[in-house]
Amino acid sequence: MSEPVIVAGDAHPGLAREIARQAGVPLLPVAIESFADGETRVRLEADAGGKDLHIVQPMSAPANERLMALALIADAARAAGAARITAVIPYFAYARQDVRKHPGEPRSAQLVARLLATAGIDRVVALELHSPALESAFPMPLTHLLADAVLLPAARERPYTIVSPDAGGLKRAQRYASALGAPLAVVAKTRTGPDVAVPLQVLGSVRGTDCLIVDDMASTGRTIAGATQALLAAGAREVHAMFVHAVMAPGALGRMRAAGVRRVVTTDSVRAVAEPGIDVLSCAPLFVRALRDSPPIGRG
Ligand code: R5P
Repeated sequence: MSEPVIVAGDAHPGLAREIARQAGVPLLPVAIESFADGETRVRLEADAGGKDLHIVQPMSAPANERLMALALIADAARAAGAARITAVIPYFAYARQDVRKHPGEPRSAQLVARLLATAGIDRVVALELHSPALESAFPMPLTHLLADAVLLPAARERPYTIVSPDAGGLKRAQRYASALGAPLAVVAKTRTGPDVAVPLQVLGSVRGTDCLIVDDMASTGRTIAGATQALLAAGAREVHAMFVHAVMAPGALGRMRAAGVRRVVTTDSVRAVAEPGIDVLSCAPLFVRALRDSPPIGRG
């Protein structure tokens, strides 16, 4: 039987170490450096031959470099004769262009999934893909984890109205509301540009209640900020925000706070933003369980 090992990519070594510690699985050392011209250079510093190798690498900013490092580690492991290569991707980037909405656009998510297969990755374990429809983008077996078990306990701390900040997130919000036995509302949102969201109206009753916006990620923070303004205008008492991936472009937290968001809860799927006032919950136990539940090699 092949021995499981973990390789920490350069995006979030702390999470990789925590998964390894909790799972009782050794870390296989790797050097990830840059050539003078900026190209990524990778070297596995122990024998990966015959190993059941798990590379932990969220595709957080800079996403291109993270993706390339992941592909290079996989190629190195394949060349060294690893028995199986699993990419553990706590945050899968390039997921927002998964359908061609206009002529001339790529299907980025599908392309990235194919790149991973070309690099020699046999399996992917991902957390909360931008859309469940993305599952079909992966040519290799995929384990798609949800962050509910990590986030829901914090959502139980007071009676909330659960709010989806847009129609796309409604399924997640419905799931949370149903698990909590909480009322549900949705903010109708439209986009005027790639990073610009304009809230329209609140569907559902929020007057006098504490609202918890749930979403897959916060990037510019504009979606949550806009939804917060709409909820406060509709009579919400307090607005809190909970999202899985703290992508957090510069200014995101300030934008949310300025809009009136009181509490922010997220996970460490990407390396924690050094911002005070955010509750960051560890998603490591989800990956530990997935690692323990890995199918035998040869069966996906
Ligand atoms: C949108 O479809 C997503 O679920 C998120 O709401 C969105 O990507 C968040 O981005 P931002 O923080 O830039 O508004």
